[in-house]
Parts: sequence; C-alpha cells; structure tokens
Amino acid sequence: MSAVTRSAPGRPLRPESATRQGRYRGHGIRSASEPDGELVRVGPGTPCGEYLRRFWHPVALSSEIAELPVALRILGEDLVVFRDGEERVGLVHRHCPHRRASLEYGDCRRRGIRCCYHGWHFDVDGALLEAPGQSPEAQARLKERVRLGAYPAFEYQGLVFAYLGPPDETPEFPVYDTLELADMERVPYRAPFRCNWLQVLDAILDPIHTSFLHSSISREQFSAGFGEIGRIDFFERSAWLMGTNTRRVGGNVWFRVNELVLPNFTQAGAAFAADGTKQRYYGRTAFARWVVPIDDENTMALAWACFGERGDPPAWNTPQGPELIEQGEVFDRPYEQRQRFPGDAEAVEGMGRITVHDEEHLAPSDKGVALMRRRLREQIRTVAAGREPLRVTDLAPNPVPTYGGDSVLTLARGGEADESERFRRLAHAFMRIQFDADALPEPERVAFVTERLRALEATDGDGS
Ligand code: FES
Ligand SMILES: [Fe+2]
Repeated sequence: MSAVTRSAPGRPLRPESATRQGRYRGHGIRSASEPDGELVRVGPGTPCGEYLRRFWHPVALSSEIAELPVALRILGEDLVVFRDGEERVGLVHRHCPHRRASLEYGDCRRRGIRCCYHGWHFDVDGALLEAPGQSPEAQARLKERVRLGAYPAFEYQGLVFAYLGPPDETPEFPVYDTLELADMERVPYRAPFRCNWLQVLDAILDPIHTSFLHSSISREQFSAGFGEIGRIDFFERSAWLMGTNTRRVGGNVWFRVNELVLPNFTQAGAAFAADGTKQRYYGRTAFARWVVPIDDENTMALAWACFGERGDPPAWNTPQGPELIEQGEVFDRPYEQRQRFPGDAEAVEGMGRITVHDEEHLAPSDKGVALMRRRLREQIRTVAAGREPLRVTDLAPNPVPTYGGDSVLTLARGGEADESERFRRLAHAFMRIQFDADALPEPERVAFVTERLRALEATDGDGS
C-alpha cells in the first residue's frame, strides 16, 4: 500500500500512515543518553584507561620506525616512538620537558633522543643525559630534577609492544601459543577504525554477524559457508571468552571459535581456508590481534595475519590480504563501494565515534557482547579498587593456550530435524578437547587434539 495519499483537486496531500498510532515515531525517539563512560573512556586516570594500562599492547609496526621518530597517540596520550642508534626502541611523551617542543622533530640517530630546540638529550628510559649550553652545576641539578616520561617497549616479530602502566606492576608479556607456531608465517599489519575501541572489540564475540555483514548483506567476503547461520554458544574461562559457531555443511559439521582474551587480544578461525566442505583438524587462527585504543574516538587493530596449512592459505599473503582477513574488504575505498559492500569498518564506524549502549536493543544472539561488557566492567572495577586484574600469565602455562580456530568434522546428519541440541553438545565436546590439551607443548598438543577430534567423529558420526 502506498504511504502517500494521491493528490486530488481540492484535497490536501497527506501521507496516510502519519495519522495512525504507533507508526513513524522518529519525532518521539530522542537520545538523552550518554555513552557508558566506565567502558569507553581510555585516557589517563579513567577507570578503563587504568585497567588497560595494566597490560602490554602493540603500539606500532617495527617497519614503521626507521631513522626518524614517529608521533603517535595511545590511550589518549600523545607520544613519540623511535629506534635509536643502538637499536633500542623508545616510547616517550611527545613533549620535551624543557619547554615542550615535540620530540617527533628530535634526533635519534645515536643513543636515545635529542630535542630539536635546545638539544636536551634523553635516554630511552627518560633520563636526561645532557643539557647542552648549561653549566656543569646546572646540568647536574637538571639531571636530578628533570625526567622525560617514558614507557618500556620492545620489538617482537615485527610489532612494537609497550606497557603504559605503573612500573611496579609491570606484567609478564603473554606469549600465546599461536605466536610460536613453526608451521605458520605471521605477517604484521595495522587496521584503523574511526570509532571507540569497544565497538571494534564487540564484533569478536558477535559471531553471527559474519553470516550477514560478511555474506548475505554485503558480498561473500570470506568463504561460502559463512552465509549459513549456525548454532552459537558462548564459553567463559577466567580471562578467556569464546563464541563458537557450529554449522552443518553437507555431511560435515564446521566448528569455528572466536576468542577474546581480556582485555583486548582476539583470534578467530580462518577467513578463507575453512568453509566446512573439507575436513580440517585443529585449524588455528587467521589473525592474532590486539584492539588498541588510540583515544576515545579512534582505534587500531595491530596484529599478525597467520598464513599456513592451519591458518589462511599462503596465496592470501598479499599486501591486501591482512585487510581482507581483518574485515572482509580493504579499508581505503570510495564511499559508494563502502555503501554497496560494507565491511566491519562501515558497520562499527557507522555507529558514530562513541556509540550509546543505552540505545541498543540486545537480542539473545548478543549474549557474547553482554558477557564481554560485564566481564570488562568487573575487571575495570577490580583495578579501580586497587587489586590486580586477571592476567593469563598468572593463570596458564607458558606459552599461553588459546582456542580461536576452525575444525571441520565429517558427522552425518542424524534423524532429528533440528540439530541444535546435538550441535550444542558437540560444541562443548569440541571445546573440552582443546581445554584438556592446555598444558601440552605444541607437537603433542596437535596430536592429542587431532586424535580426540577423530574419535569424536567416529563416535558421534552416526548422529546419535
Ligand atoms: S624544548 Fe626541548 S630542549 Fe628545549
Ligand atoms: Fe567482522
């Protein structure tokens, strides 16, 4: 039915539906709500900002730091990262403590960094080494009194990691098992998002969005199997939160695990290699990725894309490959293309710079998002109360076990029309197998998980 009454001579033109109760309520729906400051504000001194400052985060790619300093912003702080002549990485406050010149114009060709304005020279730890043009006595006094703000930083497999928290609480760096897989090539990448960090993070515990955004609504951005809406289950294991998507693809059942390690480390299965059509035992993550706030309104994912037999195919190891794995499309595209084929950036940036949770209408499939926010809030309050947050390095063997990945098992359809309950049971069995392998080193772990998955296939293969 047309929403507009046809115009007739002498009769007013009026959309007929406007007069009916309950329709077209734009005028009545107004936002009076504020963003959830406890979860979204990340600057120094904010509860979430202080929680995030209790962890190591990647802040740059090694390849971005050459002979010149690089200005960057992390957790709302203006900083400079550089590599000095001794190959040490420095991450320091951007402004020189003398008279506030920016150290992005400094000289880092020898030891530490020297400010361009009056030549004050600082070590990577912030110590004043020299203040030229001052008497020896004045220099001695200045060295006692002046300190450039600095943070510990180091390079690891092409990413620069830093810790921005209190020095006496510096945690161990968590070496996740997937960072050391000998059969995978890890390619560092950066992905920018013009919105709050939590909007970007939310997507990892929202596995159902892949069936829409990355399949039926946009174009088939990953493999064809993603279009199938599977059964979603969520698992919680101290600092690990996981969402499984269990789908039937012909005679196979495809298990895919999306994973968050609190506060911001994420993994998931392959973007292109797994589509449910071929058996796959213990496929691992396509990316090992941190969602790092630049400030309240900007975020970057810093990550490795993982290529190899158990990740995404080496053929995707191209300049665009990591962006496609990250969000289904490359980032820098014309507006019309972004409209026609939206990826994660369009979905999460389109909410606005900071979305307002009070105006959402969460549905049962948003259980993972709700769980994640609840756990983050609990951890933020733990730190605000002066206690230590959950850290996987305190909880798990080293390397730290993780679970993001894919497996495809041949499991014939049983007699039941609705396989949901069977998939729930299988998803729990699938996760249990991985949990049972936590303490095993990599070669034994692969053998153990593969053998148990084959056993699951054999015992559950009749659909019972
Ligand atoms: S402002 Fe940096 S040395 Fe003077
Ligand atoms: Fe996505």
